[in-house]
Amino acid sequence: MGEAVSGVKWQLLSLFYLTLIRIGYTDIRYAVQEETKKNHIIGSLSKDLNLELNRLKTRNARVEYQGERRYCGVDVNTGNVIVLERVDREVICGTNAPCILHFEFILENPLELHNIALEIQDINDNAPGFPKDSIKLEISENEPTGSRFQVARARDVDVGINSVQNYVLSQNEHFVLDQRADKGRYVDIVLKHSLDREREGEYSLELTAVDGGNPPQSGSVVIQIFVTDINDNSPVFSQSIYRVVMFENSPPGTSAVRVSASDLDIGANGKVTYYMNHVSAKTEGLFEIDLNTGEVKVLGPLDHEKSSSYELEVQAEDGGGQAGHCKVLVEISDVNDNAPVIIVKSLVNPVSENAPPGTEIAVINVKDQDAGENSRVKCSINENTPFKLQSSIKNYFTLSTIAALDREHIAEYNVTVTATDGGLPSLSSTAVLTFQISDINDNPPVFEEQSYSAYVTENNKPGSSVCSVTARDLDWRQNGTVFYSLLPSEVNGVPVSSYLSINGDTGVIHAVRPFDYEQFRSFKVQVVARDNGSPPLSSNVTVSVFITDENDNSPQILYPTPEGNSFMTEMVPKAALSGSLVSKVIAVDADSGQNAWLSYQIVKSTDPGLFTIGLHSGEIRAQRDISESDSMKQNLVISVKDNGQPSLSTTCAVYLLISDNLAEVPELKDMSYEESNSKLTSYLIIALVSVSTFFITFIIVIVALRICRRRKPRLLFDGAVAISGAYLPPNYADVDGTGTLRSAYNYDAYMTTGSRTSDFKFVTSYNDNTLSLDSTLPKRNMDFSDGTSLLKIESTEVS
Ligand SMILES: *[C@@H]1O[C@H](CO)[C@@H](O)[C@H](O)[C@H]1NC(C)=O
Ligand SMILES: *[C@@H]1O[C@H](CO)[C@@H](O)[C@H](O)[C@H]1NC(C)=O
Ligand SMILES: *[C@@H]1O[C@H](CO)[C@@H](O)[C@H](O)[C@H]1NC(C)=O
Repeated sequence: MGEAVSGVKWQLLSLFYLTLIRIGYTDIRYAVQEETKKNHIIGSLSKDLNLELNRLKTRNARVEYQGERRYCGVDVNTGNVIVLERVDREVICGTNAPCILHFEFILENPLELHNIALEIQDINDNAPGFPKDSIKLEISENEPTGSRFQVARARDVDVGINSVQNYVLSQNEHFVLDQRADKGRYVDIVLKHSLDREREGEYSLELTAVDGGNPPQSGSVVIQIFVTDINDNSPVFSQSIYRVVMFENSPPGTSAVRVSASDLDIGANGKVTYYMNHVSAKTEGLFEIDLNTGEVKVLGPLDHEKSSSYELEVQAEDGGGQAGHCKVLVEISDVNDNAPVIIVKSLVNPVSENAPPGTEIAVINVKDQDAGENSRVKCSINENTPFKLQSSIKNYFTLSTIAALDREHIAEYNVTVTATDGGLPSLSSTAVLTFQISDINDNPPVFEEQSYSAYVTENNKPGSSVCSVTARDLDWRQNGTVFYSLLPSEVNGVPVSSYLSINGDTGVIHAVRPFDYEQFRSFKVQVVARDNGSPPLSSNVTVSVFITDENDNSPQILYPTPEGNSFMTEMVPKAALSGSLVSKVIAVDADSGQNAWLSYQIVKSTDPGLFTIGLHSGEIRAQRDISESDSMKQNLVISVKDNGQPSLSTTCAVYLLISDNLAEVPELKDMSYEESNSKLTSYLIIALVSVSTFFITFIIVIVALRICRRRKPRLLFDGAVAISGAYLPPNYADVDGTGTLRSAYNYDAYMTTGSRTSDFKFVTSYNDNTLSLDSTLPKRNMDFSDGTSLLKIESTEVS
């Protein structure tokens, strides 16, 4: 519409100048209000131009207008210029003022041309209007007061006073209008009070533009003000401290607490994310927080024993980086998850066997890392031990003995210490303390037997073992190591060590030298077993050594004296009758028992059948009456045999002379030497002659002694009987039931036959059993010596 208006204007202007140049003109000005109704008379041309009214028609008066529209015309009848159609100033001129339309008034005949300027006057026919119905305005909430916001101005196509003259803003707290000098053209909204989106985020204001018409017209627009958010609010937690109690050992993922912070801002500014701040080394790895939800969860192991509480600092941050903080206090409550720990603080090991009851042997410390009842620990030990566990100081226990210990009974104790806490369920742990009982030398060696007897056959080999003793000592090592020894003593005046020796380690007793039953039959020795302790303990035992006999002695002929001294001849009276005792062979055997059981036999005789010998008595008797025909000289060879295995025997010769008269004796010489060679005989004669001279002097002494004595003229004949009576001891019959002489007497006899006083003394000093007989035996021996001497004298006399 504006463009159309200006196009028309230019057409009019060009026309005007053409006309002016060619013709000249008379200007007539008229004014008419726009929107005047049709046929409204604008002016009278006829009057103004002094035209003849009646000629107008003929002169073809007309108004010409360069354009399609006519707007006005000439009423040829009245000569008036009238409105032909609606004139809208705003259409024709827009906002230009004044708005003048140019017409040409043409008259013909003569041609006349007048310019008519028609001013279209404005009326207030338009209200102010805004381009849009509403205006959206975004204002940041932190916009400083005084800030201006230009809003689209209102437009009123009317001009002049009819255009926008004033703006009015609806009532509000925050904004005012600032109208500038050129009122109506521009308008600013000024922020009077600061905004807060969080309080009110949207305002709706009405801006009204008012024109100056009468009546004024107005147009309004709604200004919607959106307060844009700025991050002017920090997140705020619902609580500044969150307190939580959790059990220790809560599994990872367990929710502890959910913190929540709110931020009044919107959008990113109000979007809160959660972080943990200043995570200490203690807390590290134990908790995590969900970035978005603020849920604090357990991440790692919670251990009351390490820390009973944790303090977390949680930060909430909005998108603009504003932050708020809170604390989360997590208290860890104890769970009985720790068994008591037994710590042996000190231990006496080994414990001495003689430790008195009450001796402290161990100190135990018990710890439980839990808290409260869970850490209250009770301690006990297994039963059946001689120990007692006592609580001394808090959590310290002492183990002490309550009874005497005996290593030999129990050498090692395993004490199981059980510690139990007071939790529910309770936990316990055990420790085994091993105590060795150390030895003291409190047991003497003990022999396995009360006494020992050893039987040794005489003539044993030196070094052969006799018997073995064993002693046990229950103690340990050297305290229980037994050494054997012989207690020094004497056997028959000789140190026992010369008879026996003992192996100190094994207790085997050896003979040092051969024993002779005929010397002594038994002896006792004390064996001492001593341990190696300090001081040592010992005990002793008696070992009786019995020497058993062996047939090692052949019978000894006591009468008649053995070969070499064969001067002894028994006189047998010619009148001897059968059964009469002629002589007696006396033999002894140093052995005993069967070994000394002697039997006599005639192995050879001049006249077998004349004499017989008693098998055990040795008595030689005439078997029949002696007759004249019998040879005068009778020789018997007697064998004496003991009963040993094997048996030993001795032989002897008995010379019998059947005669009543000693005068017949010279033949005796022949008789005695008939079996010797003549050389030996001559030596003997020489010897006898020389000895005879010695004996002659001796005889004188003897004869002198005999005067004082009772003469026994028939000694020679009764000799066998008398001597046998003297030799056979009074207790002959009671010898061991064997009928043999007791060894003591055997010894006596044996010694006296072969040797003299020195040997005799040896025997007496050797055998205790002989002591009681000492007083009698020597006398008998003397008697025997006398007898022998007498016999010899007789022989000498005979020769
Ligand atoms: C003590 O314990 C040890 C080791 O377990 C074992 O060898 C020993 O035989 C135990 N002693 C006793 C007396 O139970
Ligand atoms: C033997 O006993 C003594 C105390 O009588 C003691 O001191 C010693 O340690 C013991 N020896 C051993 C090997 O046990
Ligand atoms: C041998 O043992 C007895 C007790 O059995 C004792 O009285 C005696 O003194 C001991 N002898 C020695 C030499 O030890």
